Amino acid sequence: MDKTVKELQKTHKIVGRKDELTSSLIAAKAAKHILLEGAVGVGKTTIALAVASHLEKTFVRIDGDERYTEQKLSGWFDPPLVLSGGYTEDSFIQGPLSTAMREGSILLINELNRMPEGTQNVLLTAMDEKTIFIPKYGKVTADPGFLLIATQNPDEYIGTSQLSEALKDRFICIRLSYQPEDEEREILRSRSVCSDEDIIGAAVSFARLTRNDQEIRRGSSIRGAIDLADIFHTAHGDYNDNIENWLWCARLAFRTKIELHDFSEDRFLRILEKLAQQALSSHKTGSAKGQSGNDTRRTHRDTVIAVPDEKKK
Ligand SMILES: Nc1ncnc2c1ncn2[C@@H]1O[C@H](COP(=O)(O)OP(=O)(O)OP(=O)(O)O)[C@@H](O)[C@H]1O
Ligand SMILES: [Mg+2]
Repeated sequence: MDKTVKELQKTHKIVGRKDELTSSLIAAKAAKHILLEGAVGVGKTTIALAVASHLEKTFVRIDGDERYTEQKLSGWFDPPLVLSGGYTEDSFIQGPLSTAMREGSILLINELNRMPEGTQNVLLTAMDEKTIFIPKYGKVTADPGFLLIATQNPDEYIGTSQLSEALKDRFICIRLSYQPEDEEREILRSRSVCSDEDIIGAAVSFARLTRNDQEIRRGSSIRGAIDLADIFHTAHGDYNDNIENWLWCARLAFRTKIELHDFSEDRFLRILEKLAQQALSSHKTGSAKGQSGNDTRRTHRDTVIAVPDEKKK
């Protein structure tokens, strides 16, 4: 299994997650449906796609949303075809669930808890009895290879519904938490356009600090750290420890990545300023190329166009 996990990490550029990949692969091998659970951006979809592609089966991917009806999932009769030919096999349009069941392939449902509860319920019999019943069409029976891999963020409460206990009971649940700091830095090395180690280190520290602040309801995922490093690198080229520069970039990178318990623009900026100071002091390095105060043309309070350091030379 170790060899397979290493291959998956390499092919899909996945940093770490050995345990989660091993658990997913074993569950899939044992023909168990898998639910990958975790906060925004922890890598649920990345792991689900890697496991699905490794199983060398065809897979049907759908993204859950509140308009995903039961008919859309299991299939429906096309009204014009029904008018001309009646309720026949030819007038039935297969949905992703009936297709995956018949072909014995993987159905990958991203953000399962965004689907309406009624739609989620269709999965119950598909998962353990391997059949679904479609009115006027009849029974669809699953090929033995049929498998469901789903992801959800259980802490998100806007536009989601809680999975029923019956549905949860049919899954093997694999929980993903945030990765250690050194692995998060490694993710930036492979996923960010920035290769400056100091920018990467400071961006990761900054994003991690947002996850532990009492005034922040949802802290930044690794996406925020990637965006912060990319933006800082694009604006400045090299690392510098000017707090105003970091604030300016953090304001851009984190606006949609952080949610406060009680939002106001002033509070948002004050928290960013506090965390920027902490991030930079925890990341003080001897190799920092910039000097504090070397680019004071931009602040988080005014929005003078950015002038990257190289252009100023
Ligand atoms: N272990 C990892 N190795 C490499 N890249 C990762 C890892 N974890 C996350 N990423 C990267 O972080 C970003 C978010 O990952 P992904 O979309 O898989 O997260 P998610 O949990 O599905 O997020 P969401 O809850 O928003 O759907 C992607 O760019 C992904 O490549
Ligand atoms: Mg996802």
